[in-house]
Amino acid sequence: MNFHIMTLFPEMVMNALSESITGRAITNGLISAEAVNIRDYANNKHKKVDDYTYGGGAGMLMQADPVYLCYEDIKRKTACTPRVVYLTPQGNIFDQRMAEEFSREEDLILLCGHYEGIDERVLEEIVTDYVSIGDYILTGGELAAMIVVDAVSRLCPGVLSNSDSPETESFSDGLLEYPQYSRPEVWHGKRVPEVLLSGDHAKVDAWRHDMSLLRTMERRFDLYKKYVQSHPEEFVPKKPRRKKKKTD
Ligand code: ADE
Repeated sequence: MNFHIMTLFPEMVMNALSESITGRAITNGLISAEAVNIRDYANNKHKKVDDYTYGGGAGMLMQADPVYLCYEDIKRKTACTPRVVYLTPQGNIFDQRMAEEFSREEDLILLCGHYEGIDERVLEEIVTDYVSIGDYILTGGELAAMIVVDAVSRLCPGVLSNSDSPETESFSDGLLEYPQYSRPEVWHGKRVPEVLLSGDHAKVDAWRHDMSLLRTMERRFDLYKKYVQSHPEEFVPKKPRRKKKKTD
């Protein structure tokens, strides 16, 4: 999968993505990431990419042309017309389902805005997805783009060394992950739950599932409600066992 990040701060993006798991995935050729500097497409001596807004008001706006030329240049290098994700607080909230959808693309363009935003006309022409990472305002789209790249790239084949892990983690089945423990068996007087030492895999799985349910109910009741609705079979009340009548 190839990520193309359109930004005014390419170093900020590449510095972060070249660390840790994304960095290793780039080095191993499992994903690629290029940060393209929108400023390189400014057609003026001072490489200025922003201007005042028509109608007045505070703040500057990123102009349409450098953004469009930058997009065209990226598009030329890709086999088909890639989706363009504009990071904005006005977008749909990014979640695991969206990460999975993006991970099926071969190329993804992420457009980072700054100042008061970007001229609406170029957004109308190139943007396919408006995406927000939450209901708060950042100084620019870069951090949001890095979050999207991180969450999507770990779903790409081979990026995580343990290929099982995406399926068993928080959100993959709509539940939060169960608590996990490593050595030592007793730490600060706290014992690892006995069932995890039992070697009984069915029991361990059942315990983990129960803990996931409990944790989701306690910490994210919104997700818990959704899970209950989509797995009604799990919540069928069991018939109470009849007590045998005593026969004298
Ligand atoms: N740019 C500024 N704030 C943002 C947010 N919350 N999500 C995505 N992009 C943004």
